[in-house]
Amino acid sequence: MPALVLLGAQWGDEGKGKATDLLGGSVDYVVRYQGGNNAGHTVVVGDQKYALHLLPSGILSPECTPVIGNGVVIDPAVLLSELSGLNDRGVDTSKLLISGNAHLITSYHTTMDKVTERFLGSRKIGTTGRGIGPTYADKINRVGIRVQDLYDESILIQKVDAALDFKNQILAKLYNRRAIEAGKIVEELLVYADKLRPYVSDTTLVLNDAIDAGKVVLFEGGQGTLLDVDHGTYPFVTSSNPTAGGACTGAGVGPTKISRVIGILKAYTTRVGAGPFPTELLDEDGEALRRIGGERGVTTGRDRRCGWFDAVISRYATRVNGLTDFFLTKLDVLTGWERIPVCVAYEIDGKRVEELPYSQSDFHHAKPIYEYLPGWTEDISKAKTFDDLPKNAQDYVKALEEMSGAPISAIGVGPGRTETIQINSFL
Ligand code: GDP
Ligand code: IMO
Ligand code: MG
Repeated sequence: MPALVLLGAQWGDEGKGKATDLLGGSVDYVVRYQGGNNAGHTVVVGDQKYALHLLPSGILSPECTPVIGNGVVIDPAVLLSELSGLNDRGVDTSKLLISGNAHLITSYHTTMDKVTERFLGSRKIGTTGRGIGPTYADKINRVGIRVQDLYDESILIQKVDAALDFKNQILAKLYNRRAIEAGKIVEELLVYADKLRPYVSDTTLVLNDAIDAGKVVLFEGGQGTLLDVDHGTYPFVTSSNPTAGGACTGAGVGPTKISRVIGILKAYTTRVGAGPFPTELLDEDGEALRRIGGERGVTTGRDRRCGWFDAVISRYATRVNGLTDFFLTKLDVLTGWERIPVCVAYEIDGKRVEELPYSQSDFHHAKPIYEYLPGWTEDISKAKTFDDLPKNAQDYVKALEEMSGAPISAIGVGPGRTETIQINSFL
């Protein structure tokens, strides 16, 4: 079972960082395949808490090689500061590998992200403002700057010139901003060239060789299924493919090499930013989930929107990712409710709908149809096996498994590395 994908089954922040870190000790490579520093993973190791944005969570496991694949967009300033922050805390980051084909987020991308959101006003996406969308737009538009361009100055100058040519017209004429000087950007970027050079490598070759040699490779998604630009709640999505297929394109590994796809699934639902959210709670239950679950963004510090578990979404995640397993996180947060509503289907224009509607308008009108499961009051954070859980918590997990269409192979009962019940091994 050498190659696994681990991804978010909802709208991100499901606890992917903790799940990857947990596996880190038995994994040879942990690979990020999409997204950038819009991601925010909190990993708790003993009494130490780490907030990671761009680096794969495997960086915290000394035996593991962390890899940033070609599908990732890299803000070099953020990357270097994240590395030095970890070095200061005694974490060895020297094994990191970065794809030369990954695209760079420059200061004009973050500027474009912010001015575009401002321009959209009430129609804004609520992006993280980290330049993610504009960088992927340039990649698709074939005017992006890649890591390898840092090592050919004349090419770099040509590319930055080409990228700014059109943008400067927009900045000046549409947004009433000053034009950005290409020379300044080139200067900014060249500062990073030598610092990044030791990490840059042909990551697709390294990873395919590793898989062929029987090494364990874990692909770690950022964001989540419903933030996927193709399969999510477009246009309220990120600009990459967090779904399982993204691991293949974003790391240069064929689908025949992937043996297992694990969806990280929160025992309730959260979302950051704008867009539809059928089970969202705007009452004291939502407030309680936010408080008990600590639902505040790692990247932007925004409060997360909270709601009950939505089985229509988990079924959809199973379908579009071909999930083989779920890792159910934050079950402990639900302790104390007398009964727990679970959305089993939607009502859309008076009709019961079991599957996620492909039409954006339908999804905006979807009203949750709830089933009510009995809650529990016992502290479950010390549970080590499924049998240690109170009967009602066991039944809650079994009901979610039944509705979601793939086995729940692990359960999170607290933020720490050890606060996990492993039911089936992932390896
Ligand atoms: P990610 O973006 O998917 O990596 O998730 P985040 O790190 O943004 O958010 C998940 C939060 O939940 C983090 O603060 C984790 O420490 C925490 N967490 C993860 N698993 C559990 C769990 O099983 N129980 C509790 N209480 N917290 C958890
Ligand atoms: P992790 O990896 C939750 C959301 C933003 C916004 C939309 C587009 O921690 O799960 P972007 O800056 O990507 O163009 O913003 O996507 N978003 C996330 N929400 N968790 C994340 O990452 C997110 N990354 C982006 O809030 O709605
Ligand atoms: Mg997060």
